[in-house]
Amino acid sequence: MFDPKKHLSGLAFADALPDIAQPMLPERAKVLDLGTGTGVLAAALTRVARMVVATDISERAVKDATKNLKGLDVEVRAGDLFDPVWGEWFDLIVMNPPYEVDASDDLTLSSPDMVERFGRQVSTYANRALIGWPAEEGDRLAELSGLSVERLEVVPTKGESLGIFSWSAT
Ligand SMILES: C[S@@+](CC[C@H](N)C(=O)[O-])C[C@H]1O[C@@H](n2cnc3c(N)ncnc32)[C@H](O)[C@@H]1O
Repeated sequence: MFDPKKHLSGLAFADALPDIAQPMLPERAKVLDLGTGTGVLAAALTRVARMVVATDISERAVKDATKNLKGLDVEVRAGDLFDPVWGEWFDLIVMNPPYEVDASDDLTLSSPDMVERFGRQVSTYANRALIGWPAEEGDRLAELSGLSVERLEVVPTKGESLGIFSWSAT
């Protein structure tokens, strides 16, 4: 299970997220946290959005997020990538994907193709996305996802600095 206290990128992203997201969002915004893990980003998003949907492929993550987000206005759903939100539209999608891209069985830490599939489908669900990724690896993120991404912020963590990358359809 991806623990944001051990892997500090999630906590760093969550701290920075409300201030970064707010100027991008309309009033009463609907946002998606894709790959929610413990729900740390979804919780941060409740400060700036009216409706937050949080999804994860891992049953354990869905269970933990549901528990952690109790009392907050977040819908937690299970499933692969965009399957749980098929046909919906969001003002913003936020994702902190596994950075290791290989075929390990542990999809919480490693993903064979999540970023690539995200890049192919994101414009069906939103015009804007924020992606957490190692700050110095923007080129790799762009190559994997096929998206033009812009690094908005660098957030120091105890390990590798987290970059918050933005994609926009316009
Ligand atoms: C690096 S963790 C981030 C967790 C949390 N958002 C955070 O920032 O602490 C990546 C999450 O993506 C989920 N994930 C991996 N592949 C996925 C897929 N194909 N569809 C949905 N979620 C996926 C994992 O289960 C994991 O919880």
